Amino acid sequence: MAEDTRRAFVCGFPLAHSRSPMIHRHWLREHALLGTYDPIEVPPEAFESFVSGLREQGFAGGNVTIPHKEEAFRLADRRTAEAEAIGAVNTLWFEGNTLVGGNTDAYGFAANLDERAPGWDTCDKAVVLGAGGASRAVIYALLQRGIRDIRLVNRTLSRTEALADHFGAAVTPVSWTDVDAQLDGAGLLVNTTSLGMKGAAGPDVDLARLPRQAVVTDIVYVPLQTALLQASSEQGLRTVDGLGMLLHQAAPGFERWFGQRPVVTPELRDLVVADMGASA
Ligand code: ATR
Repeated sequence: MAEDTRRAFVCGFPLAHSRSPMIHRHWLREHALLGTYDPIEVPPEAFESFVSGLREQGFAGGNVTIPHKEEAFRLADRRTAEAEAIGAVNTLWFEGNTLVGGNTDAYGFAANLDERAPGWDTCDKAVVLGAGGASRAVIYALLQRGIRDIRLVNRTLSRTEALADHFGAAVTPVSWTDVDAQLDGAGLLVNTTSLGMKGAAGPDVDLARLPRQAVVTDIVYVPLQTALLQASSEQGLRTVDGLGMLLHQAAPGFERWFGQRPVVTPELRDLVVADMGASA
């Protein structure tokens, strides 16, 4: 390998379905850069020693995915404001010898909506389904865009209460039984639960209660057109699938490691969609 080859990784357990190598290798080719981006499967018990060896192994940084995002948060020498607010790290890079932990999920979420539903952030009220890790990134993005009335709905109410405590008065915890009433006047509905994954039934909500100009988006991107998005289109609502969040969240990391800001193009999207079709 040439001496100026920069190396990055995605680390998770298991890693079989990660599309990150395809995305970053596409950008490396597009920018004609000397660089590598490799999947590395690391079990939880080996993650700490993996991270402590990164510098020695010559890595510029990498992505961290399930189940290592909280541990990466703990192990980073310094964290960005986004990572602190979200409580998880998905991107690592070195500044000198300091290992910095960032979180690009909130950026990816907002950039996807900016691209596919411009004006989405002019609404006052949003409804977020789910209160797991993805939900934290979504809530952070909504707050950053000035949305000050966020109804957070989850099967386990204690998790919504924990997030409301964490993010403050803009977040109102709501139980599933009250979900439909929250949709009145909401400009945005976000599904961050795993409901709808791999063609399963989506969250059961009364979409007819949303205003006609509302945007509905799903974090789930397999399938691209989830049951929730399908039903929303049938109601005439604007919909945005979750694949763009995956594509956009990758861009800041690439820039950190390889020094050039990549662009999410239709060509890249088509490449990943074709791969999803091939492995379906
Ligand atoms: P992620 O990091 O992707 O957000 P997670 O932390 O495991 O993953 O969160 C999964 C979310 O999907 C949670 O909001 C979960 O609800 P609970 O907090 O009640 O577990 C939600 N979820 C998963 N299966 C569900 C189901 N069958 N019905 C309703 N919600 C479900």
